[in-house]
Amino acid sequence: MTQTEEKTQATGTPMVPIEKIVSLSKRRGFVYPNSEIYGGVSGIYDFGPLGVELRNNIRRYWWWSMVQTNDNVVGIEGSIITHPRVWEASGHVENFVDRLVDCKNCKRRFRQDHLPEENLLKNKCPVCGGELTEPRTFNLMMETYIGVVEGERMKTYLRGEACQNIYLDYDNVLKSSRMQIPFGICQIGKAFRNEVTPGNFLFRQREFEQWDLQFFVHPGEMQQWFDYWKQFRFEWYKGIINHKDRLRFRAHGPDELAHYAKQAFDIEYQTVLGWQEWEGIHWRQDWDLSRHSQFSGQDLSYTDPETKERYIPWIVETSGGVDRTFLNLLLDAYEEEPDPAGKESRTVLRLHPWLAPVKVAVLPLQKNKEELVTTARDIHKKLRRLMVSQYDDIANIGRRYRRQDEIGTPFCVTVDFQTLDDKTVTVRERDGMTQVRVAIDELPMYLQERVTWK
Ligand code: GAP
Repeated sequence: MTQTEEKTQATGTPMVPIEKIVSLSKRRGFVYPNSEIYGGVSGIYDFGPLGVELRNNIRRYWWWSMVQTNDNVVGIEGSIITHPRVWEASGHVENFVDRLVDCKNCKRRFRQDHLPEENLLKNKCPVCGGELTEPRTFNLMMETYIGVVEGERMKTYLRGEACQNIYLDYDNVLKSSRMQIPFGICQIGKAFRNEVTPGNFLFRQREFEQWDLQFFVHPGEMQQWFDYWKQFRFEWYKGIINHKDRLRFRAHGPDELAHYAKQAFDIEYQTVLGWQEWEGIHWRQDWDLSRHSQFSGQDLSYTDPETKERYIPWIVETSGGVDRTFLNLLLDAYEEEPDPAGKESRTVLRLHPWLAPVKVAVLPLQKNKEELVTTARDIHKKLRRLMVSQYDDIANIGRRYRRQDEIGTPFCVTVDFQTLDDKTVTVRERDGMTQVRVAIDELPMYLQERVTWK
């Protein structure tokens, strides 16, 4: 029995081994290892044709629910490189570190905070039982240089957390957008960390993408807004997964809080890797604006237009990973189903239709019947202006359905001989494999209602 199978059994419900997702991702064009022809770079990945569609849908849906539908939230897009002082002020140069221990016997390396408690107490390697070294400290920030002339080049960093741009632009947003506290700023953007132990596919990477809300409040209203956004984000994740029981909150203990947080909760999702962080809800208080005021010399305090009270706003942060969402959604959606007819099993990605990379596949029943092909191509041409549509006439219809199931396409439209008589098509739904007849004229509306969020 493999380690993965054991874990699967221990949880009581079948969970998908990561290897199946890695294999599907490469085979069907979701995710590729970066620079693969040169042997790859650990912890860095590229997204293929289906991956980029899924990723864009995930991002757009987040933006829609966080920015577009909240009047007190606006968005920005900041740069990856900033002034190096930003990272001194943020505390990352000093505090953004991992403590690592090595096994003196088998030479394996572990993050100290990832060791099981028993091994930590006994200072023993979790793999071979050997003695562990004293912990050594490694900074996770990725360095880079601005300028070309030796001696005049300025060392700075690729941002270690995307949210810093929001604090840097906070005052500009305030002055240019008529926002008043309480209000929030959102951003989706890349972050870079020299993770010492990248791994588990997209779960821990060196280049990844984060989505952040930084919500600025009066200190007296902090608890209320913290509770509000904590619940809002939990419900958001619950709304896009099938296995609702695999989502939970976990409060951070005092010894694991990040240097900027006074309180934190993780929204965790359960996979074969166990319960793991998906998004962090952080009580950042006045840490960020106070530090940037202090290091930059700019006053970032806020004056209430009515009461004239002046204060440094406190911040509620909700910070999650686009890539971790991508991975968790695939793990949540993947299923291998026995075929009722006893033939090959069916692999299906039960992705929410809003997020599925391809919304519809248009299939002529037979490739060698010109009228079927022409009608199917016409339907596809109309649909592709509204949603991602694929035309497919290769192999028998059963195989084509399976191909679409495997990539999570919620609807297949089949053009058959009845279509030529009555201008209706068969719409086959992915999850239940049920089929209905829909008039060609009504097809765009029928599909749009089912694949577009509202
Ligand atoms: N601004 C706060 C912050 O960066 P974090 O808990 O370090 O907090 C937020 O990161 C989210 O970013 C995590 O919940 C996770 O989803 C994602 N994340 C963090 N490190 C990651 C990594 N190395 N690879 C992929 N995603 C990561």
